[in-house]
Amino acid sequence: MLSVGGRLTAFAGVLFLATFTFSVCSKPAPPRQQSASPPLLGEITPVVSVKELMEHMIDPIADNIFDAVWWDTTAKGVVEHQPRTDEDWEKIRIGAVTLAEGIDLLKVPRPLAPEGDVNNSLGPNPPELSPTEIKAKIDKDPVLWIAKIQALRNVGLEVLEIVKKKDVDALWQAGGDLDEACEACHLEYWYPGDKTTVLEQRKARARFEKRGRRVDDRKH
Ligand code: HEC
Repeated sequence: MLSVGGRLTAFAGVLFLATFTFSVCSKPAPPRQQSASPPLLGEITPVVSVKELMEHMIDPIADNIFDAVWWDTTAKGVVEHQPRTDEDWEKIRIGAVTLAEGIDLLKVPRPLAPEGDVNNSLGPNPPELSPTEIKAKIDKDPVLWIAKIQALRNVGLEVLEIVKKKDVDALWQAGGDLDEACEACHLEYWYPGDKTTVLEQRKARARFEKRGRRVDDRKH
């Protein structure tokens, strides 16, 4: 038989155990040591704004792909320009690698435009959004911004495969895909007012291209 004191001690023991067990069970799981993607090896510090990254990196290097296949109507007839040498194909590869890797730099927070540049956003019915408006759109739905980046990256990867096969027809098609990936982002963030016009133009071009490939009038 336990004395009163002994019972109390036993009761306190049970209580202690219960509290201990409860606190162990309710403890939040310790933070996982390994996250799905390993952290960057160091800081990434932006050098230029989005606008300058476009002007001095993305746009000029995209021409390595845009300008790779085209047709020219001369006095002698239609002249076809296409990559022929290893050097020609290497230029396309440089374009594809730089785009696929470089477009991810849009994930690094950076100003949209240089200080004081408000884009063509003033006056009634301005054709472009201001950097502040663009930033607000990105902040509101960052997943969409990332999707537009990914879409362009995918075209870069597509072109890399085409370079391996040296497939000129596929390269021509990829030029169209690239143009659409650039435009899809610009129409969303930079000049959304053009959406209808551009869609109309695209339909017109599709009708036109059905009648045969012609000198490229693509613009980006
Ligand atoms: C994920 C979005 C995104 C993608 C993809 C993208 N751009 Fe842009 N680009 C922008 C934004 C946003 C601006 C406008 C920035 C501003 O002026 O505030 C811009 C601006 C530009 C400009 C204007 C630069 C200037 O000096 O005024 C050019 C040219 C350009 N982009 C070319 C391209 C080309 C070519 C591609 C495809 C190979 C491309 N962009 C893909 C977001 C994108």
